[in-house]
Amino acid sequence: MQLRNAFRTRVEEGVLRPGTRLPSSRQLAADLGVSRSVVVEAYEQLCAEGYFVSQHGSGTSVAAAARDEIGSALTPGDRTPTAALRDLRTGGLHASTFPGQDWIRAVSAVVTSAGLRELGYAPPSGLPVVRHTLAGYLGRVRGVRTRPDHLMITSGFAQGLALLCRELRDRGHDTVGVEDPGHPGEWEFIADAGLRPVGLPVDTDGIRVDALAVSGVRAVLVTPASQFPTGATLSAQRREQLVAWAEAVDGYIVEDDFDAAFVAPAQRMPALQSLAPDRVIYAGSASKVLAPALRLGWLATPPTLTTPIERLRAGWDLGCSSLEQLAFARLIDTGAFDRHLRRLTADIQKRRQVVHQFVARELPGATLRNGHGGLQAYLELPARCAEEALVQAARRRSVLVRGGRFYALRADDRPPALVVGYAGLRGTELGRGLAGIAGAYRETMGRTGSRTPRVTPTAEPSGTGVRGGR
Ligand SMILES: Cc1ncc(COP(=O)(O)O)c(C=O)c1O
Repeated sequence: MQLRNAFRTRVEEGVLRPGTRLPSSRQLAADLGVSRSVVVEAYEQLCAEGYFVSQHGSGTSVAAAARDEIGSALTPGDRTPTAALRDLRTGGLHASTFPGQDWIRAVSAVVTSAGLRELGYAPPSGLPVVRHTLAGYLGRVRGVRTRPDHLMITSGFAQGLALLCRELRDRGHDTVGVEDPGHPGEWEFIADAGLRPVGLPVDTDGIRVDALAVSGVRAVLVTPASQFPTGATLSAQRREQLVAWAEAVDGYIVEDDFDAAFVAPAQRMPALQSLAPDRVIYAGSASKVLAPALRLGWLATPPTLTTPIERLRAGWDLGCSSLEQLAFARLIDTGAFDRHLRRLTADIQKRRQVVHQFVARELPGATLRNGHGGLQAYLELPARCAEEALVQAARRRSVLVRGGRFYALRADDRPPALVVGYAGLRGTELGRGLAGIAGAYRETMGRTGSRTPRVTPTAEPSGTGVRGGR
């Protein structure tokens, strides 16, 4: 009975997960110093009660049914069949875009040749050989002017930002300018570092430098390639103004270049950092071009910041996984990364077109802002369209999407908006998600009709296939 009760409690608490294999009765009996029949009897009882399943040849394991009961018991409010939800929130990236075979080949090559150095501790800033490859790549693709010893490999942009904010605070900053609308997660990182994010307006040319100039801040975080979430590219004139501002206030610009790869070729500009490597801290990430799961990012720092940031990092962790750094560098060196990006960006362009056509056809009165970059469409809605009601109406149609308010730092009188992330869904699922938004829009605008939305599902990208062998 003791044994049975102990197992039952652990299954109910979720400590023993469904599918977990249990030790054989012989082994457990030996471990516990009891006779085997005691264990056999407890196992049989638990099988009869549905906690365990026993299969000939594969032993005893925790039953799958136990998971559902326990799952719903632990999370009573969340019984939504999540598989049916279509997620059009920003941040998602469809798993099929990950170049699985390329990655496996790169990791395999790295592991096969790894010696003591590769398997040991690396400098916290990253392996020199990887920084060398990355410096070359960023120069070639983004015009970034840096050297390997001013590059740091970080655990995503998130860690880079957290480190930078701490350094800024140590230098006497108590505020950081941020784009508004922008990314609420970043504002939290800034606040966690003891700094106050100050919202600055953006228009179709990107951040408004005139507002920045009177804000009193001396550091600003921007997304010049494609303003998140409006998609505006920072114009050439604004770039010059921004750099002049940083010189004038003896300040810093943090350039978040995480989704530059997805800017339409005609709109693409070199990194802002190339204009002023002493004033701009350049930050990139593998999250949108490979997968967030890798937690790989990089910072190119002005020489004055390199050593202080390295010192901060050394007290933070002991660097990122060397094997993953090496695999990433190998992808770049072999050309596999370039090939992957060509497929991925073509795929994203196609999805973007589908969304744009959908907006023109199915959302009368909605205006697409910018639309040449990013992995999301920022839609301004007619003033009479209640943003939150629209989000809720979409939710009732099993579509998750966010309103513009979610991305706004200050509550002001900006028009209602919807931000549709299109990187997480593809093919018919994207089509169905958009159809749900169309229905929600008609309902919210008070024009619910019986017309079936004519949303053409995207064709699964063919031929070049971003699946990369998955
Ligand atoms: C605005 C913005 N910057 C940067 C990133 C990348 O962050 P990380 O590298 O920490 O995943 C994201 C990820 O979605 C983002 O939305």
